[in-house]
Amino acid sequence: MNRKDFLKQIGFSGAAIFATYCTGGLAACSSSANNQNSVVSTPDGAVVTPVKNGTDFTLDLGAAENVALTKQGGFLVRNGVVIAFTTQGTYAAVTQICSHEGRAQVIYQSSQNNFYCSAHGALFDTKGIGLNKDGKNGLKVYNTTLTNNLLRIYS
Ligand code: FES
Repeated sequence: MNRKDFLKQIGFSGAAIFATYCTGGLAACSSSANNQNSVVSTPDGAVVTPVKNGTDFTLDLGAAENVALTKQGGFLVRNGVVIAFTTQGTYAAVTQICSHEGRAQVIYQSSQNNFYCSAHGALFDTKGIGLNKDGKNGLKVYNTTLTNNLLRIYS
């Protein structure tokens, strides 16, 4: 008897089995880093399409339009997210929408290694924490994962 048969025998439904597999941390339940619309296969071969919730996209750092993210201090804006390759050599991603008055004017400043809103001067560190009065509410931060040449930005 395999794990799936055992779970069925003790009364788990298909959805509960899937949840059990996924909360168990099996790699098959994670989505592909390079395809935000990918399907997920469970260990028993069932295929499901994950529910998209929030931001999740991938940038190919080999593509000319993303070259800014291959140089420390470079940044770009995609899908309302400011993505920076910081001067510390890490990736940071925050919303472009400032928490002060909602202007979409947040950029990355390599000279200070921080995020800055040009509307009124709000400042945020690379973790989105406010550094001055206008930035006191912080910024929404996104996760980043680099796999080979693919940078995934997700909430
Ligand atoms: S809207 Fe960004 S500092 Fe005011």
